Amino acid sequence: MKIVVTGANGGLGGAIISACARLYPSWECVGLTRAEADLADAVATEKAVSSLAPDVIIHCSAMTAVERCETEPDLARRINVDGTRAVARSAEKCGARMVFVSTDYVFDGSGAPYQEDATPAPLNVYGQTKLEGERAMLVLNRSLVVRTSWLYGKNGKSFPATVLGLAKTKKVIRMVNDQKGSPTYSADLAEALLKLVEMEATGIYHVCNSGHCTWYELAKAVLEIRGINAPLEPTSSSEFNAPAKRPADSRLDCSRYAEKTGSPLRPWREALADYLSSLPA
Ligand SMILES: NC(=O)c1ccc[n+]([C@@H]2O[C@H](COP(=O)([O-])OP(=O)(O)OC[C@H]3O[C@@H](n4cnc5c(N)ncnc54)[C@H](OP(=O)(O)O)[C@@H]3O)[C@@H](O)[C@H]2O)c1
Repeated sequence: MKIVVTGANGGLGGAIISACARLYPSWECVGLTRAEADLADAVATEKAVSSLAPDVIIHCSAMTAVERCETEPDLARRINVDGTRAVARSAEKCGARMVFVSTDYVFDGSGAPYQEDATPAPLNVYGQTKLEGERAMLVLNRSLVVRTSWLYGKNGKSFPATVLGLAKTKKVIRMVNDQKGSPTYSADLAEALLKLVEMEATGIYHVCNSGHCTWYELAKAVLEIRGINAPLEPTSSSEFNAPAKRPADSRLDCSRYAEKTGSPLRPWREALADYLSSLPA
């Protein structure tokens, strides 16, 4: 089986390529970077993906900077919606199965924990453009949409690594305590995605590490696990006055995934400890 992964230099894309080499050595896994397929150029993207003749496309690349999406909505739409449609056209052309990675930010936070058939109501441009991307995928035969949340890992941006950096440079670390969600280790999500590909799952699945916390509680866990005694204070989202609104409670109900595969992802704190143990002391 030949799998093409977009966003190969991103946090999740990199994790999928590593997990595939380790767990499914007989599958050929080809990563596509922005330099090889810029989603802002739909024609070039369609051509680049189609030329690889994949059996499965795992579409991870996206404009993920939530604040930037809010201030540059046209670019966000071009990348997250038009670019995704271009990838979907390649899938149709090649007869490939399509996997799209989406987000808890398609919800407004008023109905958590969310099941897969809950009505989306995004609060920000990022969530809206990812929702439109989902819809472009779901019209295809045999497509799979996996919604996840609060990703961190070895490649790309990582909230736990940021907290460790702040502990070295800030007198006081302030973290919001009024947004709730499920932190998810990209290595765990990568394995789950490949398992769903192997099982030929279709439709929508919510996949996150088990349990939930606030950003403040997550930062507290990072410091506790590393044995760092840094001053950490809870604060509220209003203090940051960010242009993009975020859901106050975006917990996803992941029971469909657990039923399909026979087990849920491990608890978020266990996954976090595993990730932190992989970082230098
Ligand atoms: N991060 C989260 O907390 C989170 C939560 C829920 C869902 N998701 C979804 O999960 C997926 C993977 O996220 P991630 O955390 O791995 O994000 P990431 O680390 O920001 O990676 C995104 C990738 O997309 C690429 N990209 C950005 N603009 C592009 C363009 N115009 N053309 C081609 N590639 C472009 C980036 O390329 P460069 O490396 O060149 O910048 C990067 O490799 C995304 O679809 C995201 O929406 C993420």
